[in-house]
Amino acid sequence: MAKRKKKQLKLDEVGYWSEVKLDIVRDYAKAYSTIFSAPAQRKFHHVYIDSFAGAGIHISKTTGEVIEGSPLIAVSTDPPFKEYHLIDSDITRVDSLQRMFGNRRDVRIHHGDCNEIMLSDVLPHVRYKDFRRGLCLLDPYGLHLRWDVIRAIGQEPTIDMFLNFPIADMNRNVFWRNPEGVAQDDIERMTAFWGDDSWREVTYQTVPTLFGPEDEKAADNDAIANAFQERLRKVAGFKNVPDPMPMRNSKGAIVYYLFFASPKPVAQHIVSHIFDKYRNRGAT
Ligand SMILES: C[S@@+](CC[C@H](N)C(=O)[O-])C[C@H]1O[C@@H](n2cnc3c(N)ncnc32)[C@H](O)[C@@H]1O
Repeated sequence: MAKRKKKQLKLDEVGYWSEVKLDIVRDYAKAYSTIFSAPAQRKFHHVYIDSFAGAGIHISKTTGEVIEGSPLIAVSTDPPFKEYHLIDSDITRVDSLQRMFGNRRDVRIHHGDCNEIMLSDVLPHVRYKDFRRGLCLLDPYGLHLRWDVIRAIGQEPTIDMFLNFPIADMNRNVFWRNPEGVAQDDIERMTAFWGDDSWREVTYQTVPTLFGPEDEKAADNDAIANAFQERLRKVAGFKNVPDPMPMRNSKGAIVYYLFFASPKPVAQHIVSHIFDKYRNRGAT
């Protein structure tokens, strides 16, 4: 019988905007873990959750060198978190994480769809009443995250969240000038991410044409991101959601928005400082 070839690990080559994101996560993880490691906060058990964890390392497009990915940055945070949850759906990346952290009792590595694993296995262990607190990174390539996960995080006031809002995937596959040609599964991915189909009202306006009224794209990237910021506050229930940071490529185009949301005003304050520190880095 022919042997099935083992899938090889392929590292991502990341642009400098990803390196900016990693520096933001590094700075905030340190600030967060420092606060929860203080003697006055001893009753808390603070955890780090990386829902789209990746391989743990990447190749920098800028230098060609291997750089730390978010799981490695988080696990190296000093002072450390009490517990880490790293999730990825790609087995070669899970294996890579196992090689890095398999001997650490404080690191749990999960293989599978983070939408399921977050709801069934991770979030139920980060409850307010149990003095659990957490920092969570939701960093999909595109529209792979479901709103019910975002909402579940917002409903329990225990977690600070960074969220990659994948506007490039939305523009490429969903927000066409004329929405008639958009594939049904892309519409479904968009609705699953947004939580309902109110994204259509934000994005499109009905205009009269010779052939009757038609929908046309009316909103720009910032208007769509602002509407999502409102949803995080009003529908998901996050009390503090600063303006997101637009992450741009070398041509100035927005690749994604990095959102932050938290139950605590002080967290918003810290992150706004960190966003300001990195806002113009790499911009040409
Ligand atoms: C942008 S990369 C993560 C990069 C990482 N956060 C970092 O900064 O180092 C996205 C990862 O999500 C994984 N992924 C895609 N869909 C997923 C899903 N539904 N559940 C869990 N992981 C998923 C991919 O295999 C990939 O490794």
